[in-house]
Amino acid sequence: MKRATAILLGSVLLCSVAESQPTPFAQPQSGSGPNWSQMSLGNIMLLIQARHAKIWYAGRAEDWSLLDYELNHVSDDLTAAAMLYREIPVELVTGADRHIARMKEAAGRRDAAGFQSAFSDLTSSCNACHAAGGVSFIHIQTPTAMPFTNQSIQSGGR
Ligand code: HEC
Repeated sequence: MKRATAILLGSVLLCSVAESQPTPFAQPQSGSGPNWSQMSLGNIMLLIQARHAKIWYAGRAEDWSLLDYELNHVSDDLTAAAMLYREIPVELVTGADRHIARMKEAAGRRDAAGFQSAFSDLTSSCNACHAAGGVSFIHIQTPTAMPFTNQSIQSGGR
């Protein structure tokens, strides 16, 4: 990807995240943070997959704070993926990010139906990009069971 495109893409994708409050002590010291370029796209996608599941269960339980937190991380992860993937079709990344932004808005309104509709559209945009990237055999769906049993998700938030 050309540098100018990467910068443009980064700023487009980061604007929804910029509104969120950063976790105070999750900021790396300058120069010592992880080097995203050393992470493969497939590895970043595994993180996105885990959070896609948490987003579903947090949204269904209306745990709005957790939902907002996971959405910010997926948005960051997608930005990192876009930086790594040369020639990535920008509209496929911004398309996914638009549904993340819709879910954040739904979380702000405590709108369960709005959340479910945006989640379904996000899942479709995962698969649209997999088709474009020649990995359509990686088919994402709405989770059927929560894979993480070591984290509580509070009905109605906390
Ligand atoms: C902009 C394009 C794009 C978007 C959007 C995208 N993916 Fe991917 N994804 C890919 C590509 C390309 C690969 C293959 C990467 C590789 O093997 O190097 C991949 C691979 C994966 C994998 C396989 C990882 C593994 O090791 O098993 C999973 C799981 C995955 N994506 C989940 C998701 C989920 C969930 C979403 C939506 C929230 C999503 N992806 C959105 C492009 C995308």
